[in-house]
Amino acid sequence: MATYGVLTGGGDCPGLNAVIRAVVRRGLHDGHRFFGFNSGWLGVRIDKGYELTHENTSGLLPRGGTILGTSRTDPLADGEAGVDELRATLERRGIDGLVVIGGNGTLGAARELSRRGVPLVAVPKTIDNDVPGTDFSVGFHTAVKIATDAIDRLHTTAESHNRVMVVEVMGRHTGWIATFAGMASGADMILVPEQPYDIQKVCAHLRRRHAGPHSFSIVVVAEGASGIRPARVTNPEERHELSTRPAEGVAFDVGKQIEELTGYETRVTILGHVLRGGKPVAFDRLLATRYGVAATEALTAGRFGKMMSFTGDAICEVDLAEALAPGKKELDLSLYDVAEVFFE
Ligand code: F6P
Repeated sequence: MATYGVLTGGGDCPGLNAVIRAVVRRGLHDGHRFFGFNSGWLGVRIDKGYELTHENTSGLLPRGGTILGTSRTDPLADGEAGVDELRATLERRGIDGLVVIGGNGTLGAARELSRRGVPLVAVPKTIDNDVPGTDFSVGFHTAVKIATDAIDRLHTTAESHNRVMVVEVMGRHTGWIATFAGMASGADMILVPEQPYDIQKVCAHLRRRHAGPHSFSIVVVAEGASGIRPARVTNPEERHELSTRPAEGVAFDVGKQIEELTGYETRVTILGHVLRGGKPVAFDRLLATRYGVAATEALTAGRFGKMMSFTGDAICEVDLAEALAPGKKELDLSLYDVAEVFFE
C-alpha cells in the first residue's frame, strides 16, 4: 500500500475534479491512500491539504473548478530552497509519488522536479489546448462548447441589428479555442496568434460580405491575436489602425478599427473566464476519467516522468520531458485553412 499526492496547478478549467475523482477511485481499489495538496505547488511547499477519500471525491464528475484549489506558484522560483521545502513535505507525509494536473507552467515545473528525481506523473489540462504531446487537454472541449453557444446567441442579435460582432475568446498564445468555436458557430472571420492579421484585409473582407446578401458579421478573436507590424508607419492615425499590441481586450482595438474603417456599427463581447467555469461537457468528463485512471496506473507501476496523452482515440503515456520539449502546441494551420473556406 502506497500514499500518493495529487495537485491541480495553473488556471482552473472544467474537468479537474473529474480527474481527481478518477485518480483516487482507481487507487483506492488497490488499497492506496491519497493526499490532496491545496493550491497547486504552493500546497506542497507549505504542506497544506487533506486526505482524499471515497466520500469526499464522490459527486465530483460534473462539478466545475477544483476542490483542491489552484495557483500559478512556481516551486522553482526560489531555486533549490523551494525544491528542498517540497521534498521535505513529501518525506514528512510519506508520499510515494505525485499526480500533477496542470498546463504548460505547472507541467514545466513537474518536468524539472522529475529530472531531480521527484517521483511523479502528469495529466494535461488547459482550455487553451496548447500543451504539446497530446491531441487534447482536459477543459478544451468545454470551453469550445461555451464559446460556440455564446457566438450562436450573438449571431441572432447581430443579424437583427445589422451589426458586426467581435467576440474575444481566451488563448494567449494559440488560436485553438477561436478556431474550433469559430468553425462550429460559422464565424465570418477568425483572428489567431499564429497568423497576424492585417486590419485592412479584414475590413476589405467584411465590405465584400456586406455588399452581398449579408449585412452583419461575426469576427472571433483569440486574446493573443495581433496585427501585422507595418514596415514603416509615420502617420499616427495609421499607427493606431495597425496596432500590434497583443493583449487581453485586443477585441476592443479590432472592433474600433472595424467601425472606423468600414462605418459598420460594431459591438465587442469578451467571453474571458466564462469559458473556464461550470460543468465539463461529456467529452471532458470521459477524457478526465481516462487520464485519471491511466495516471494512477502509471504511478503505481513506477512509471515516473510520464505524461498521459490522448492520441487518436487512445490514452497513452509519453515522456514528460520529450512531450514538453517543443514549447507551446500551436494551432494546426490546416484546420484554419478549412475555417477560411467559410469566410465569405
Ligand atoms: O492558460 C489558460 C488561460 O485561461 C488563458 O487562456 C488566459 O489567458 C489565462 O489563463 C488567464 O489567466 P488568469 O485566470 O490567471 O487571469
